[in-house]
Amino acid sequence: MGRRLLIAGNWKMNGLRAELAELDAIAAAVASQDTGPGELLVAPPATLLAAAREHLPSDVSVAAQTCHHNTRGPHTGDLSAHMLQEAGADSVILGHSERRTDHRESDEDVCARAQAALAAGLRTIVCVGESEAERRANETLTILGRQLDGSVPGEVTAEKLVIAYEPIWAIGTGLTPTPHDIAELHAFLRNRLALRFGHAFASCVRILYGGSVKPSNAAEFFALDDVDGALIGGASLKATDFLAIARSAP
Ligand code: G3H
Repeated sequence: MGRRLLIAGNWKMNGLRAELAELDAIAAAVASQDTGPGELLVAPPATLLAAAREHLPSDVSVAAQTCHHNTRGPHTGDLSAHMLQEAGADSVILGHSERRTDHRESDEDVCARAQAALAAGLRTIVCVGESEAERRANETLTILGRQLDGSVPGEVTAEKLVIAYEPIWAIGTGLTPTPHDIAELHAFLRNRLALRFGHAFASCVRILYGGSVKPSNAAEFFALDDVDGALIGGASLKATDFLAIARSAP
């Protein structure tokens, strides 16, 4: 369908200025056209957004890890989508399971944040994923369908939307679903988008897999039809691993 792979590194709450050297290594690889065919994206902590934008070439995206649903106001510690954009973000990750758990973000919250992000012109990467208990209870499809329907706003365009499927039990554990399961669940998510937005829309949306993606397993995931890239946590912190994953794209 012509969807370009998106190789996205989510630094989570990691990264001081010393780690900007990793971005310089990515920039050097981009300069020598040694990053593979995919689009690269880095989501550093908010404190490094501006510096990340300066250290990376313009064809590498910079993403925030969440945003508030309001544009301004009495929300101590929060950052609006416009603030993040002004700091250098062109994209934002929303509804990551760590936000859903640590900050009790509901689908409704994620949807409101996505609306604010889209209004500010940010591309939104909406995360969905089931827990181990939900998987064991055979509730995966129910959970993914509910999260997708509830978290993606109706007024989004396909260009501004990326979905990340991240089974919670695979995040940072070294465990991953089988390629067969990933293929099936990504197809389910795309069909669900098609039901709501139409086939043309759904066929343009990139669906990333996230959860223990490493240089040694990325190629296997990228080979799957409905996998359009990866959302990488731990292995994105070192440029060597991040670039090895990017280079393993077909
Ligand atoms: O956002 C990234 C995911 O939570 C995956 O993290 O690659 O460390 O398992 P991980």
